[in-house]
Amino acid sequence: MIIAIDGTTASGKGTIATRLAAKYALPHMDTGCLYRATAVAALNQGVALDDSAGLAAIATSLDLSKFRDSELRTGEAGKAASKVAAIPDVRRALFNLQRAFATQPGGALLDGRDIGTVIAPDADVKLWIDANVEQRGFRRWKELVATEPGLTLEDVIRHLRIRDERDQLRKDAPATIAADAVLIDTTDLTIDAAVEKAIAAVEAVLARG
Ligand code: DC
Repeated sequence: MIIAIDGTTASGKGTIATRLAAKYALPHMDTGCLYRATAVAALNQGVALDDSAGLAAIATSLDLSKFRDSELRTGEAGKAASKVAAIPDVRRALFNLQRAFATQPGGALLDGRDIGTVIAPDADVKLWIDANVEQRGFRRWKELVATEPGLTLEDVIRHLRIRDERDQLRKDAPATIAADAVLIDTTDLTIDAAVEKAIAAVEAVLARG
């Protein structure tokens, strides 16, 4: 079984993906980490965020074990990742890795923006997770403010809008909802309730056979 979980930034898709992967004992790839790691490596090596060839070279030889989760999760890494993810050569360089993960024997769960549309259009279950921008901003602000004390909620929401727009308007594999995806809006849901909805969607597909 392949499960594809896409959605907007800070919609809860990461947590839903982790919980579902555990429940169905599927290997899980958080594909946002690939773009974040490419961006962090570029920032560290002084490669410009619009240098297609330089970024593609980094993406091709990416070793995720070299990055700490905390350095991939900063606001700066997220912002840079969104720029890097708009570059076709970078997406191409990261495609095979993701496709191979998705099609491994025994199944897989991947979360990102284009899993159900580009990486695994053949996925058995596709979910699209979203929430309104104010709620997502509040969640992300709570996560980041501990390490970035000066950060305001307004700033976080403003940056989320910019990232949403960049993710959705880019020409190559924009973040779009697959026609056969199940939509889950987590604005007014607790994490447990959102996970339950996601599980119900998977069970419905399994029941269909
Ligand atoms: O999900 P995230 O915040 O970790 O993603 C970081 C950036 O990478 C985000 O701006 C969108 C981009 N991304 C993408 O374009 N395609 C994916 N499959 C996953 C992430």
